[in-house]
Amino acid sequence: MATATGRSPRGGSDLGRIRVAKDAAVAVARGKILEVGPAAELAARYRADRELDAAGGTVVPGFVDAHTHPVFAGTREDEFEMRTKGASYAEIARSGGGILSSVRGTRSASKEELLELLLLRLDRFLELGTTTIEAKTGYGLDPADEIKCLEVLASAARAHPVEIVPTFLGAHDVPAEYRDRRPAYVDLVLEEMLPRVAEGRLAEYCDVFVERGFFDLDDSRRILLRARELGLGLRLHADQLSSFGAAELAAELRAASADHLEFAGPRAIEALARAGVVPVLCPLVPLVLRQTQEAPARAMIDAGLAPAISTDFNPGTCYLQSLPQVLAFAALRYRMTAAEALTAATLNAACSLGRGDRLGSLEPGKQADLLVLDVPNHLHLVYELGRNAVAAVVKAGEVVHEREPSRGARGRGEV
Ligand code: NIG
Ligand code: FE
Repeated sequence: MATATGRSPRGGSDLGRIRVAKDAAVAVARGKILEVGPAAELAARYRADRELDAAGGTVVPGFVDAHTHPVFAGTREDEFEMRTKGASYAEIARSGGGILSSVRGTRSASKEELLELLLLRLDRFLELGTTTIEAKTGYGLDPADEIKCLEVLASAARAHPVEIVPTFLGAHDVPAEYRDRRPAYVDLVLEEMLPRVAEGRLAEYCDVFVERGFFDLDDSRRILLRARELGLGLRLHADQLSSFGAAELAAELRAASADHLEFAGPRAIEALARAGVVPVLCPLVPLVLRQTQEAPARAMIDAGLAPAISTDFNPGTCYLQSLPQVLAFAALRYRMTAAEALTAATLNAACSLGRGDRLGSLEPGKQADLLVLDVPNHLHLVYELGRNAVAAVVKAGEVVHEREPSRGARGRGEV
């Protein structure tokens, strides 16, 4: 077994301090963890209705993906090819592709179609060990279509074991019909979309793509302040393509998270650390965008920050649902240890979503969200590339996914 511990985000040298135990067991009742301890002791103390044998594998908390954009119709593999041949994300966006291409597909899809697509994606998340996702809208970009996407998220949350934390991202881009009327679109977000989202209790968070050519600092601040007034938590796409103060804005507003941060410099890091904002890093995105600049993760950790790592699953900049893959890349690109990456993809991610008291670690009182991995120890999480090691998934005490055991034992002695 390997798990972070605690209920608040772990940063600095605490990021990699996890609990690792051999021959351990987790006792669960009514969806919650009663006790974690030596298997022999727990077996003597509890009479189990059902036992899930990890068979020498490794048990870890369910992964929490703190940044995804999973409600969309249509894919953008052509843009991937264009980047392979040298085009940039900004050039593709300017020529009518990018976010606005997914907006066209999403607007023309019915609620039923979007729900079917989303449920399929949630199945994939679960098979890959993700038991909770933060899920953004941002491909509707008008009141009706943004609400449609939030309602699709609510329907999926009722129908699927993956827990969904909905985020309103109406300020993802300015839609084509407002191209020359940017202030009018900001007003639409402020005066119509946000009040409707809040009134319907359709989202927990509001996010803004704070970036040149998307939303500037002043408009972003207005949108985020209004969202906060209406009771929403705040997240920001910050310093992803350039640096112009988005991380400092996240700090000023004491946002729950500042995401991406590829271009965050020392001042940004200091501001985030002072304000206790969780950086949500997306290590695969620069690779997909063929951008050389990566988030300064080690400098953030040295400054005491408590990063989360996420897929940023979306049709444009990262068509990836696998957090295990993200852990491996966090090790390779950011030099995070396996323990640091595990904490970042579980406890810190849960804390950034306001769920640190309930999710993100294997401890008494927490919800029983856990994975059985068919690897002998947690180091394999970053060592094995591209294989899905998830043998079983438990969400709130229920076994919600179980794969046929592969040949032989799952690991060699550690559970
Ligand atoms: O997180 N940066 C803005 N949003 C997404 C990309 C969305 C898209 O290209 O469809 C991101 O990378
Ligand atoms: Fe994103």
